[in-house]
Amino acid sequence: MNWNEDLSVRVGEIDSQHKKLIQLINTLHDAMKAGQAKQVLETTLQELASYAVYHFQAEEKYMQQFKYPGYLSHKLKHDAFVKKVTGFQADYQAGKLGLSLDLMNFLKDWVTTHIRETDKKYSDTFIRNGLK
Ligand SMILES: [Fe+2]
Ligand SMILES: [Fe+2]
Repeated sequence: MNWNEDLSVRVGEIDSQHKKLIQLINTLHDAMKAGQAKQVLETTLQELASYAVYHFQAEEKYMQQFKYPGYLSHKLKHDAFVKKVTGFQADYQAGKLGLSLDLMNFLKDWVTTHIRETDKKYSDTFIRNGLK
């Protein structure tokens, strides 16, 4: 999966974070395909989860700072994703779930759909408040 202009929110800092998020999903996908050890996959999944939290906090900080009206519903989407990924992590660690193509597709679809349909809505507000 590649970042492309179609995913741009027109704010450089946020676009960079989205690129990194996509890169981490690709790293997880590659590690899974290569049949890496469970410990490597756990570490990679943890890195992805931590970076997602870091990124969501950055967006939420700006949304609050700029009194973006869609803040709450946007934050709820972030929270639901974090809860889901944390659940995957727990199930994977407990041996109740394998890393599958389904899981990878869920991560990819969620991130690209979220950027296109939810993140892009804050672009005008962020730009009007001086982000570039
Ligand atoms: Fe985002
Ligand atoms: Fe977001």
